[in-house]
Amino acid sequence: MIRLACFGAGRIGRVHALNAAMQPGVTLAYLADPVATPAREALAAQTGASIADPDTIFADGRIDGIIIASSTDSHAGLLLRAAEAGKAVFCEKPISLDMALTEEVMRKVEASGVPCMLGFQRRYDRSFRALRDRVASGASGPLEQVVMFSRDPAPPPRSYVETSGGMFRDSSIHDVDMARFLLNEPIASVYATGSCLISPEIGAAGDVDSVMITMVSASGRQVQITACRRGPMGYDQRLEVLCANEVSTAVQYPATRRSKIRPRGGDRRHGARAYQIAGACHGALAPWGQNSTI
Ligand SMILES: NC(=O)c1ccc[n+]([C@@H]2O[C@H](COP(=O)([O-])OP(=O)(O)OC[C@H]3O[C@@H](n4cnc5c(N)ncnc54)[C@H](O)[C@@H]3O)[C@@H](O)[C@H]2O)c1
Repeated sequence: MIRLACFGAGRIGRVHALNAAMQPGVTLAYLADPVATPAREALAAQTGASIADPDTIFADGRIDGIIIASSTDSHAGLLLRAAEAGKAVFCEKPISLDMALTEEVMRKVEASGVPCMLGFQRRYDRSFRALRDRVASGASGPLEQVVMFSRDPAPPPRSYVETSGGMFRDSSIHDVDMARFLLNEPIASVYATGSCLISPEIGAAGDVDSVMITMVSASGRQVQITACRRGPMGYDQRLEVLCANEVSTAVQYPATRRSKIRPRGGDRRHGARAYQIAGACHGALAPWGQNSTI
């Protein structure tokens, strides 16, 4: 039996705690969150976890792994404690909002040898993974341009925004990660603009809710990201990659389907084609204030 502990009983903590507790062969032994809310108590009751403080959890030799799903400012400290205690760890993004601290935590966790995974789940979404594998296989020809749309279901509350690091580092971090995953080379330059078009609360917290980012890789390949804290269609993730031989798209849909689109005109004689991959994305987060059901 694998025994886990989860830090954070908020929106994403609920997703991870419920997922962990329903796995065969896994026990969610502890739930830690310093804020006593009815949601924390309900999650503990639903998962069978005991509410505990960090010292109890890290001192318990029977705990195999730690899930860090707490607020961003707690990640670095908890990652270091997990590494020191020799516990495998899954940590939500980001490690920290401070680059020097991020690098220090990376070094120490690596040196400790504990297995560590970060919450960049889009790399594991079926459609995005299939697209990336196809591009990496060389079948599409050299990659030239990437265009992404990334929309959350609904804007977060001001309290979340205030500790999140802001839209670019909190939300667009997933799109930047996906760009790096696809390009497999460093980004050389970034141009970005942000506006507050949706939520006056987000504006009052000094943040933006609608952004456009243009990135250029070291070899000159281009990425365009359009992201927003609200999607009229709900959680909305789409990606298009232009390669020399074909255009590939990944779209978040509940069911996987694939289709090839034949180009019009004479393109076919050059072997050019559009190749569409539509597949399941990870279970979408519920809008703020609603229960998540994945
Ligand atoms: N990968 C993703 O798609 C994704 C999605 C949502 C959130 N996140 C990340 O997950 C983290 C939490 O986000 P959320 O939406 O659940 O926020 P939230 O505000 O709903 O919940 C955060 C919870 O953490 C608790 N907390 C704060 N410090 C703690 C500590 N030291 N120990 C234990 N609990 C602590 C808070 O009391 C709160 O209950 C953030 O870092 C966010 O960036 C990732």
